[in-house]
Amino acid sequence: MRQQRFEVGSRSDAGGGGGAAGGLHSQDELAKVLGIVGSPRKNGNTHVLVSCILEGAQAAGAETDLVLLGELTIQECDGCHACWKRDFACSKHDDMQPLYARIAECDALVLGTPVYWYGPTALMKCVIDRFVYFNCPENRGKVRGKPVLIAVPFEDTTSETADLVVGFFEKSLSYLEMKLAGQIIVPGVTKRGEVRSLRQVMDECHRLGEELVSR
Ligand SMILES: Cc1cc2nc3c(=O)[nH]c(=O)nc-3n(C[C@H](O)[C@H](O)[C@H](O)COP(=O)(O)O)c2cc1C
Repeated sequence: MRQQRFEVGSRSDAGGGGGAAGGLHSQDELAKVLGIVGSPRKNGNTHVLVSCILEGAQAAGAETDLVLLGELTIQECDGCHACWKRDFACSKHDDMQPLYARIAECDALVLGTPVYWYGPTALMKCVIDRFVYFNCPENRGKVRGKPVLIAVPFEDTTSETADLVVGFFEKSLSYLEMKLAGQIIVPGVTKRGEVRSLRQVMDECHRLGEELVSR
């Protein structure tokens, strides 16, 4: 029988960095939460997890937005470093351009990827590579202090299978002064969207989304 244990983590030191002081809410504006799905499989497990987290955020009063990377065309970063010079813009005229703006506008991010060969998907890796754009003083303020939740489903039944993915996000986000606010790591799922049947996982996603906004 397959093991269906999942892991949830919230980082208590991650609050207060994005949006208005004292939390994501301000008096007049709704918190904006952007979910990015790094699986090419629409309605797959990552899509379900990220959507459920966004539903939780909405229930706590946030405005949410969902991006499916599989529907976008995003080239790989080639290290030209145009984004560190002159107008500090990326040289690639592709779907990452509007995504940079959406990331800059949001108060919190939800990043989801399944484990693909012990790492993130190529779609998610490509986006994180393009985060080089944020690695200069002129653009760093667009992400500094932003809380991020990560969602990682995979087929193996041991949570260690996600260690490299979690480490990849921990180190990369921390390098950019973003804050890993929590994680939901779900082993033992492989069929499209089967995670939806795990009530406890869905409840935790909802709770994490609410907590992200209410912190
Ligand atoms: C190319 C590929 C590589 C995968 N590599 C792994 C892996 O290394 N470990 C694992 O446990 N599952 C692996 N899986 C299974 C997926 O992580 C699993 O099916 C997941 O639930 C898919 O999520 P999705 O529905 O959001 O696409 C792989 C699947 C694919 C298609």
